[in-house]
Amino acid sequence: MSEAPSASNAKSGSNAAAFDASRPAPRHVAIIMDGNGRWAAGRGMPRVEGHRRGVEALRRTIRAAADIGIKVLTIFSFSSENWSRPAAEVGELMGLLRRFIRNDLAELHKSGVRVRVIGEREGLADDIGRLLIEAEELTKANQGLTLVVAFNYGARQEIARAARRIAEAVAEGRLEAAAITPDTVSSYLDAPDLPDPDLIIRTSGEQRLSNFLLWQSAYSELVFLPVHWPDFDRAALEAAIGEYHGRERRFGGLVAKTGS
Ligand code: FPP
Repeated sequence: MSEAPSASNAKSGSNAAAFDASRPAPRHVAIIMDGNGRWAAGRGMPRVEGHRRGVEALRRTIRAAADIGIKVLTIFSFSSENWSRPAAEVGELMGLLRRFIRNDLAELHKSGVRVRVIGEREGLADDIGRLLIEAEELTKANQGLTLVVAFNYGARQEIARAARRIAEAVAEGRLEAAAITPDTVSSYLDAPDLPDPDLIIRTSGEQRLSNFLLWQSAYSELVFLPVHWPDFDRAALEAAIGEYHGRERRFGGLVAKTGS
């Protein structure tokens, strides 16, 4: 079982620069919270313990992100493909979401966090559907960090949902097929008002997007950290932002727009 380095040793690439708090933070950071199972297995613990410790890492990360000045934090908490895991693990992940909302919503609200949810609601247990709505409704006027929970989320599914709604609009005469642009597609996604992610972080050393924000990530900077998610902390987040600040963003043009 491979052991990942600790978060304090989480620098990942040749462009890694020291975190500089005086530079503007990336506006939108999205995280693939990977490695819970390996973290647990490496310690002889059941996988669920890795997920539980993952929730603690999530709490630390929300606090750090707000403090650093990130405006939008998107977390991949349950993918459309995660249903294929053993029923017991799926049940544990659903239970963790329930407990996270029940235990943490008041505190998130007090801290000014606005909760948004992306993903397919159909097929979720009724009480989970209600909790997601409650979290969004309670916090909808908050002006602090926007926490986007990607739950039962898959990017291809999201794009297919958008395509379906676009087709309906064309069929009903509300939209001209010839007028469909990339901006039109963006406007039919699950959270069309949010900016695309500037930075996508994946923990645990895997280097792929795994059906996460495929449309929105066209010009995102990707940072892969060797740390497993339960060990993620502010130092790891700052290491990823330091690497982001060292990147040149050209958006297909010639003029570098250094990571803001
Ligand atoms: C990937 O680790 C992580 C997940 C599939 C779930 C992420 C969930 C949490 C961090 C906790 C739940 C949070 C909320 C808000 C409900 P993995 O199990 O794929 O790890 P492995 O690749 O090492 O097996």
